[in-house]
Amino acid sequence: MPTLATTVDGLKLPNPFIIGSGPPGTNLNVITKAFKEGWGAVIAKTVSLDSSKVVNVTPRYAKLLANSGEVIGWENIELISDRPFHLWIEEFKKCKDQFPDGVLIASIMEEYRKDGWIEIVERCQDAGVDAFELNFSCPHGLPERKMGAAMGQDPDVLKEVCGWVKSAAKKPVWAKMTPNVTHIEDPSRAALLGGATGLSAINTIRSVTGVNLDTLRPEPTVEGYTTPGGYSCKAVKPIALRMVMEIAQMIRKEFPGRSLSGLGGIESGNDAAQFILLGSDTVQVCTGVMKFGYECVKPMCEELLNFMAKHKFETLADFKGKSLDYFTTHADLVKRQTERKAAQKAASTKKVVTSDGEWHGDEFVKQSDELSRG
Ligand SMILES: Cc1cc2nc3c(=O)[nH]c(=O)nc-3n(C[C@H](O)[C@H](O)[C@H](O)COP(=O)(O)O)c2cc1C
Repeated sequence: MPTLATTVDGLKLPNPFIIGSGPPGTNLNVITKAFKEGWGAVIAKTVSLDSSKVVNVTPRYAKLLANSGEVIGWENIELISDRPFHLWIEEFKKCKDQFPDGVLIASIMEEYRKDGWIEIVERCQDAGVDAFELNFSCPHGLPERKMGAAMGQDPDVLKEVCGWVKSAAKKPVWAKMTPNVTHIEDPSRAALLGGATGLSAINTIRSVTGVNLDTLRPEPTVEGYTTPGGYSCKAVKPIALRMVMEIAQMIRKEFPGRSLSGLGGIESGNDAAQFILLGSDTVQVCTGVMKFGYECVKPMCEELLNFMAKHKFETLADFKGKSLDYFTTHADLVKRQTERKAAQKAASTKKVVTSDGEWHGDEFVKQSDELSRG
């Protein structure tokens, strides 16, 4: 019987499905729901020390629909949590009292100030959280304050800030990477060099969902205007998989043993299997929960278990990173194809006569020879 239970960076998870930072972990009420429904861990909505600087607008989401009406893309211009930090500390404590075995991960973000990062780590740690995720990746709003993706796009800053956090953290630290870069390995490497225990990828992709052809205003429209937002949901999965693959290759080569949490468009157990095959230890779901509700973790676990049973995998470790070996260069693809075609041709010219209709005047002696012994 396969098992989904896994231990990552010392954290014991009943299954690899983690609530990704965002609305599904935005207060104790919804975090409680997540643990009750059986999620493997919860990453709370990103918190900062001074929430008074965080002012959200409405509407702040815009959806991209397929012709069938299904939501396949989701843009948000939501900021990090607008709830006071002292409230969060109380809720972290209450959550750990209620679910002592539940893995609660605090997502944190601060300005480029060592004292701020150390204070937020120490206060969350004292409240009992099990790990940290550093949000270096929100692509909208926060970069205007040199936070989020503005930090995640600068490897030197990333390395330094990871070092600050590690100097204070007694718990595992995951750095959450932005996809809004050309080579995700560069900032990922910097975060690991700075001491991050592991990485999470990806946050949302900077986007403009569309323009309303009646009003000529881009969406989501706030008082007639908009600002580019972060794109998530099913449509981003191919990009997320590519980036997870690139990070996993780098971890395998340069930082063996560091962890990777994959996310971006995961909605099913089969989606999760693909992220694990490309090197993820755990998987996160954010928009999927907003589409389907917290209950979706059950069919996801079931589908992942069925995949494992089909391939006779007993544990997640049995197939983590297994598909990484099948990536190569284009030149190597050409070489492999040329070799295969040549081998096929050689085999076909060697084909022996199996019925009288196959005898050929020009090949007669050769065909006779191939049918002979010795
Ligand atoms: C409405 C919304 C709010 C989000 N807020 C946060 C946040 O506060 N912190 C964070 O690290 N990521 C945040 N994210 C990003 C998600 O955690 C995730 O990285 C991204 O959406 C891709 O995964 P998904 O397709 O499963 O949503 C948010 C995403 C959405 C849709």
